[in-house]
Amino acid sequence: MAMKMSSPLTIVFLVFILQQILFFSAMADEKFIKSICKSTPSYDLCLKTVLADPKSKDADLTGLALIVVDAVKVKGINTINYIKGLENSRPDLKTVLDYCTDVYNTSMTVDVPLAVTALSQGNPKFGEDGIADVTVESQACESTFGQYGQASPMTNVNQDMEDLANVARAMIRMLL
Ligand SMILES: *[C@@H]1O[C@H](CO)[C@@H](O)[C@H](O)[C@H]1NC(C)=O
Repeated sequence: MAMKMSSPLTIVFLVFILQQILFFSAMADEKFIKSICKSTPSYDLCLKTVLADPKSKDADLTGLALIVVDAVKVKGINTINYIKGLENSRPDLKTVLDYCTDVYNTSMTVDVPLAVTALSQGNPKFGEDGIADVTVESQACESTFGQYGQASPMTNVNQDMEDLANVARAMIRMLL
């Protein structure tokens, strides 16, 4: 009996079964991710962002929300660097750009950490507040150019941030 169990055919069969299990669980993950992303305002952005992180493979909804919040953080840091570059090429916009640096800095140092802590501690309501503030901050940056009578060179950047934050927010709302 013991001999039979370890015959090459049995091993091939077991490997086959294992492959099937792995294959179907990977499909289940992707099905789950797709169904979550369908309930956010930007399906493509959601899917692209989530699948770019290998942790999405076995993440639950909280884990997926944390992945998007992390992407918000990366985008915020990139935006602050982008503003630094603009300050060199557009000294005429310095007042507004300094303000935008401040609001993005608040997003990255206050709002995002609040969302991460809240989500990690199973407190999605505060997580939503944090990520909602990120949207408010990027809108504040955008509208301040107009208040100074200047055309915004950051419209796309601010909109991208808002779109990503709205994906995170939609996921967090599903946890409430
Ligand atoms: C935000 O501002 C503080 C104080 O000026 C600075 O130490 C910090 O590095 C800034 N954070 C980011 C993400 O730029």
